[in-house]
Amino acid sequence: MKDTCRLYTDLAWLWPLWGDAATEYAHYCQYVSGLIRRYARRRTTTLLDIGCGGGKNVLNLKREFNVTGLDLSSTMLAQAQALNPECTFVQGDMRTCRLGRTFDAVLMDDAISHMNCRADFVAAFRTAHDHLEEGGVLIAVPDVTIESFRQNRTTTTSATRDGLDVVFVENVYDPDDTDEQYETTILYLIRDHGRLRIETEHWTMGIFSQDTWRQVLLDTGFQVHEEPYSVGGDEYTVFACVKAG
Ligand SMILES: C[S@@+](CC[C@H](N)C(=O)[O-])C[C@H]1O[C@@H](n2cnc3c(N)ncnc32)[C@H](O)[C@@H]1O
Repeated sequence: MKDTCRLYTDLAWLWPLWGDAATEYAHYCQYVSGLIRRYARRRTTTLLDIGCGGGKNVLNLKREFNVTGLDLSSTMLAQAQALNPECTFVQGDMRTCRLGRTFDAVLMDDAISHMNCRADFVAAFRTAHDHLEEGGVLIAVPDVTIESFRQNRTTTTSATRDGLDVVFVENVYDPDDTDEQYETTILYLIRDHGRLRIETEHWTMGIFSQDTWRQVLLDTGFQVHEEPYSVGGDEYTVFACVKAG
């Protein structure tokens, strides 16, 4: 099946409905800020959000940092800019992009799952490292690891706004647990004033063991700290990585 990223292109207008930026992302961003403050070995004022998407993290992080967002999708970047007009957004690929400047902190979270082979995964962390000041902190958060993956898990999220009722049905499935990929399939039920439209898409995502995350981060040149984060009954391991001098 062909990969698409409709959620970041023709269906990007649905992204603001999938989790409220001001409420659902606030607690997580406070946690991220707290880790940065705890581990940074320098004064931290600037932050680069790699794979910033529609700017929901940025909306919360900009209270504490001067935030720049990087993303591949111009549609998502336009959304992020509208939500955060005072912040800077740049289009680029996290595997190869070099902005020619450095930051006190970097965040990489849900977008990393799109790194669906080891070479891309390694390249993305190299990008983070190259954009950090010495003593700065990368916060890297896996959506899933091999240890936390739940085969055939399906989650449903509903939202209502301006005559629209939308249901997001997301299924994850790993057809081959000997490789470092899994599938995400999304079904969108969009009711515009009651009229139903059904859209679908299918992505090939990357999945790595916790040990691989740790080793790749160490090999990239970070000092690695592991911290627990739990939300809605799910446990995550967050990697707080200091760029050593
Ligand atoms: C789930 S969205 C991120 C949402 C974001 N955390 C927020 O706060 O709104 C994932 C993003 O990863 C981006 N992405 C995927 N591959 C990328 C790449 N190679 N380089 C940069 N961004 C990428 C997509 O364009 C998409 O906007």
